This record gives sequence, structure tokens and C-alpha cells, in this order.
Amino acid sequence: MHRNFLKTDQLTVAFGGIVALSNVTLSIAEGRTTAILGPNGAGKTTLFNAIAGAVRPTGGRVFFQGADITKASPSRRCHSGIARTFQITQPFSGLSVRENVMVPLAAGGMSMKQAREEASTYIDFVGLNAKAEDPARVLSTGQRKRLELARALSTHPKLLLLDEVTGGVDRPSIPELLNVIRRLREERNITIVVVEHNMEVLLGLADDAFFLNRGEVIVEGSIAEVADHETVRRIYLGDADAAA
Ligand SMILES: Nc1ncnc2c1ncn2[C@@H]1O[C@H](COP(=O)(O)OP(=O)(O)OP(=O)(O)O)[C@@H](O)[C@H]1O
Ligand SMILES: [Mg+2]
Repeated sequence: MHRNFLKTDQLTVAFGGIVALSNVTLSIAEGRTTAILGPNGAGKTTLFNAIAGAVRPTGGRVFFQGADITKASPSRRCHSGIARTFQITQPFSGLSVRENVMVPLAAGGMSMKQAREEASTYIDFVGLNAKAEDPARVLSTGQRKRLELARALSTHPKLLLLDEVTGGVDRPSIPELLNVIRRLREERNITIVVVEHNMEVLLGLADDAFFLNRGEVIVEGSIAEVADHETVRRIYLGDADAAA
């Protein structure tokens, strides 16, 4: 197991006067599921953006499998095995589920026939077979999240960044979604990093956790340790006992 599968070293991202990430140093271990926690505006999405290459850091470095990728383009990072999903899902709403998964494959140079076959594998994996010919706009939030996972899978990721994984998903649909995420790791050997607010979900999904506040990592450890940490409970959960 690679302990520093993904590593950030003193990563800083500023937007004008706003410091969204400040000297963030963290390591993500291979084959594990790591949670990124923190209140609104803590810098969680910015961290994903900096890892995926969507924003350029003001300072610090990002390493993936030992290689410095700080200056690599988003597409090069994607080729090297980093994929992500978005806090707000953005499928092509008029295209079918199948076409949504086929588009990136065909754009990558695959024949339509091949893209269709390969798309089927991913649609099957995320359990959207029954919806494959429906337009993406009719999907529920949980189904849209699974469509995003299918699209991410099509890039053959080694590391998958999932932003607000159960955000907006109705409660009864959550277990099915979590099951898909667990299988990504177990059956596809994908290292997962999740941003998620629901602590109950995290305790059943994540191994390790980092708690961000105002752009800084302030607590790290196992998910159980972080969830139980006094500072985390005070800032994040508004825990009356911890605040007392
Ligand atoms: N493109 C941008 N331009 C200017 N400021 C930004 C930009 N992206 C993020 N920020 C600011 O950086 C800070 C961190 O934002 P970020 O979206 O990373 O937080 P977050 O932890 O993902 O929050 P949430 O839980 O609400 O999704 C916030 O103050 C935000 O307003
Ligand atoms: Mg966010």
C-alpha cells in the first residue's frame, strides 16, 4: 500500500484576498476511503479543484503516486488516474443516461459501438440499467449521482474525488448509492476521497479523515477519532456538550 498515494505539501490557494486553502499538507493512503470534513466555505471543494487541476495553487505542491503534478493540466491528471464528481451534478440533461456515459468515451476516440458496449458496463456497475435509455433530466438526485459515478468510471480512475456524495439525495436512496461507492473500492480497487456532511454516512464509509476549517487542516486521524474530536464537534456539529 502506498501511504502517500496522493500528497499535498503546503498547498495554498488564494482568490484575490480570500485564502481558500492555507498550507494544507495531507496524505491519502492507497486503497482506503478518506473523508474531507469541514463547515461551509472551509475549502473542501477548492482542495478537490487543486488536486484535479481546475484551480492553480498560489503555493505548495501536489504529488500523485510520487510524481509532482502541481503544474500538470487537468486532462493529464485525468489520464494519470484522477477523476472527480461535482457538488452540483451536470449531466447533459437532454441526452439519455447511456449517451451521457458514451460522450466522453467517444470523445476519447472510441468507436460508437465500442463506446456503447463500454458504457453498458459502467451503467450496469452503478445499477442504472433500467434507466439507460431515459433522458438524464428525469433522474432523481441519487440516480444523477450514480450517473456521475458511471461517467467517472469511464476514465479508469485510480483515485476518485467525490464532492458532497449524498448531498440532496433522499434518505431511502442513500444506502444504494453508498453500496456503489463501497464496490468501487472493493471491486475496482479505486482509492476514494469524499466530501460529505452526514457523519453517520461517513462512519460507515470512510477509514481516515481530515477536518478543514478556514482553509486549514485542524484535525486528522481515523474517521472515528475525527468524528469524536472536541474541536470538530464544537465547530461542525454545534455540539452543546463539547462547547460547554
Ligand atoms: N472561484 C472562486 N473565486 C473566489 N472565491 C472562491 C472561489 N472558489 C471558492 N472561493 C471561496 O473560497 C472559500 C472556500 O470555498 P470552497 O467552495 O472550497 O468551500 P467548501 O468547503 O467546499 O464549502 P461548501 O461546504 O459550502 O461546499 C470560500 O470562502 C469561497 O467563497
Ligand atoms: Mg464545496
